[in-house]
Amino acid sequence: MMDAAAQQARHYPIAVLAGDGIGREVMPPALEVVESVAHTFGFSVDWVEYPWSCEYYAETGAMMPADGIDRLSEQKAILLGAVGDPSLPDHLSLWGLLIPIRRAFDQYINLRPARLMPGVESPLRNTDRGIDIMVVRENSEGEYSEVGGRMFRGTPEEFAVQEAVFSRRGITRVVTFAAELARKRRSRLTSATKSNGIIHSMTFWDEVFREVMVGYADVDAQLMHVDALAARFVSHPHDLDVVVGSNLFGDILTDIGAVIVGSMGMAPSANLNPEGRHPSMFEPVHGSAPDIAGRGVANPIGQIWSAAMMLDHLGETEASEAMMHAIHTVLGDSDIRTPDIGGTASTSEMASAVLQSLPQRTEPVTA
Ligand code: NAI
Ligand code: MG
Repeated sequence: MMDAAAQQARHYPIAVLAGDGIGREVMPPALEVVESVAHTFGFSVDWVEYPWSCEYYAETGAMMPADGIDRLSEQKAILLGAVGDPSLPDHLSLWGLLIPIRRAFDQYINLRPARLMPGVESPLRNTDRGIDIMVVRENSEGEYSEVGGRMFRGTPEEFAVQEAVFSRRGITRVVTFAAELARKRRSRLTSATKSNGIIHSMTFWDEVFREVMVGYADVDAQLMHVDALAARFVSHPHDLDVVVGSNLFGDILTDIGAVIVGSMGMAPSANLNPEGRHPSMFEPVHGSAPDIAGRGVANPIGQIWSAAMMLDHLGETEASEAMMHAIHTVLGDSDIRTPDIGGTASTSEMASAVLQSLPQRTEPVTA
């Protein structure tokens, strides 16, 4: 039995931004998979699709309309494919859509799992003990700031200054989030630092990290310089559990994370506003892949996995787990895979295999 209020709470209007290139190819299968688990687990989704993309820019001169953020704010979450097209400089598409969304909705956590899935080959040799790293990247300040400028353009004296911004509040909240997450996993937290070379902001980062971790005596916490940590991703990936890093360090470490687990095409990510005051955004780590766009061979797993993270965030944990289980089944028990992970399957063949591995509802769920 479920009352009307509970039913209402399990209805999710979701903003869908497929974007450009393979974003448009991997989005439809992800929506289909979510619709299937929604049916099975008794909740409903309403896709609110927006055409905002580089094509939209070519028509209107902007990546999204002036009231874009307001329109998104009415939805429970945002599912994004990828944006980017060779016809438009990348900083325009990024700063015209993704960064404004992350900032307006205070999505200060960027969560990026790097998990080696069954049946997928890592480029590393020693993976017997598996790879299951969760990178928590600071997503609202740090090195990706707008503070700075350029002077004496075009002269030999020309220079550029870009300030990195670290606040006590910003560091505290990202480290706290990572520590809580570590508690629910293997209770290890590694913080990416560089306080030997970057003596103001990174020593501050370390200080606040230590302060927060006083409250988490049960979590095995360590600080590691980001260069050594990058090497560790390659030499001892199984020793890492949760890794927390600044905006730049997190960005770099997660690309290493994505390749050591087999393919860019499988890596998911979540841009979270953990308090739920604003919608969070879920997107694969990969871009629009113009080199393979239009051929129907993009791996849809990164997009499907991102949608599973969205359901988990919305509280639909069982449905999210069912999606992850289906991905495991297809990769572990079948040889259906797209070319990026050594197969010949198309996007839709791989997506159908995931759909067919989902649990089906056996009895009607009625009020
Ligand atoms: P990319 O991730 O699009 O492609 C890198 C390589 O990985 C390519 O060889 C591509 O074919 C392959 N790849 C990526 N996703 C795949 C998938 N699902 N299945 C199979 N292979 C896959 O990165 P790139 O080439 O640097 O950027 C292309 C465009 O995407 C640029 O305009 C860039 O700005 C944009 N971009 C957008 C992002 C976003 O929307 N969040 C993130 C990264 C890049
Ligand atoms: Mg990146």
